[in-house]
Amino acid sequence: MTMELDEQARAILRLNDMGGYTLPTHGLYPYQWNWDSAFAAWGFATFDPDRAWTEMETLMSGQWEDGMVPHILFHRPDAGYFPGPDVWQGRGPIPSSGISQPPVAASFMAKMLDLDPSGEPRARALWSKLKKWHAWFMEWRLDKGAVCITHPWEAGRDNAPDWDVAMMAIDASDVGEYTRRDTSHVDPAMRPTKFDYDRYLKLVQIGVSVGWDHEKLREINPFRVADPTMTFTLLRAQRDLLAMGRRFGEDVSEISEWITTLEIGAETLWNPELGAYDSRDALTGMFNNVRSNASALCWYAGINDPRAVPATKRMLDAAEYAIASFDPEAEGFEPLRYWRGPVWPIMNYLVGSGMEEQGQIEMAARIRQDTARLMELNGFAEYYDPNEGTPAGGGSFTWTAAVWLGWAGRPSERQRGAA
Ligand code: GLC
Repeated sequence: MTMELDEQARAILRLNDMGGYTLPTHGLYPYQWNWDSAFAAWGFATFDPDRAWTEMETLMSGQWEDGMVPHILFHRPDAGYFPGPDVWQGRGPIPSSGISQPPVAASFMAKMLDLDPSGEPRARALWSKLKKWHAWFMEWRLDKGAVCITHPWEAGRDNAPDWDVAMMAIDASDVGEYTRRDTSHVDPAMRPTKFDYDRYLKLVQIGVSVGWDHEKLREINPFRVADPTMTFTLLRAQRDLLAMGRRFGEDVSEISEWITTLEIGAETLWNPELGAYDSRDALTGMFNNVRSNASALCWYAGINDPRAVPATKRMLDAAEYAIASFDPEAEGFEPLRYWRGPVWPIMNYLVGSGMEEQGQIEMAARIRQDTARLMELNGFAEYYDPNEGTPAGGGSFTWTAAVWLGWAGRPSERQRGAA
């Protein structure tokens, strides 16, 4: 069974391979996405290290002069996706979007180096680019040390309930006419609503109006939310960057300072009333009161926080398959709508592997086993219903396959985790 699924997972990576980069899936996502690509590189690293390094290099070749690495690189025009390069008008070396995505690349590069030490020269060349990207976050995106997003898509959790209050405050009445493409590939009931889409586009129009000038955006953008996904992944990525920097003989003093700042920032996301890490609106100072799978990323960031255990356990127990993207007991939970309920294997990996590292063995084993079970029963989907396990969203999904190859599909480790 495992062998068969290994082969299927590798076949998906090959199927979505466009040469130097990998699509999340054909049709729905016809370009290179930032954090998907980092997962893809790690997946390739399990059987084709050379291709893995190329993936990372292509991703970083889209870096803007100011250090940002965009969330989408539009390598070749594709009419099947909206909003495309003409709408975004990014200002990098490759047509791109104007926002970033969770910076998991450095952490996956560390994994790639473990799997393929001979890739060290290529890793060294990428290291300073990654540092420049991390510096960009530290310069433009902090609020009290926590990392903010300026568009819901930046967090990678597009329509999470975290953004509802901030989205409500955005006036999108003048956004104009447009035709969505996502709902022609996937059932609209599994995708964000029109209310959300109007605001996604309005925020893009605002970015374009100032030429994606981050300084101006900090002043005028109506959406600025400190986010656990960003804060925890960047904190983790800084730790990995630092460890690699030491190994390469680089000066890492600045990275140590960034880690301290982000640790302080992470604490500002702790919502005592919710008993969980939460997103916080940087414009109003208010918590959003959302328990999500991103709340459980503290362990991945190296923070072994006993305060976070009870609510996380409850979330695991509230559904058949761990871990739902939104608390199944919360009002508004929708088991099939994208980031408002479904289980996402990529988040399961980040949360579960973080727990393994921090000795939260029981929760980690549950998450790893559920992730494997979902794929064994229902293949490599974009996400799954946490109660029924039904596969949903896009199929033949790159990063889901990568999670199988790199983590969920390694049964000996799964048993060790369960022991
Ligand atoms: C959706 C997801 C995002 C992902 C992208 C491509 O927008 O929310 O996290 O990067 O699809 O898979």
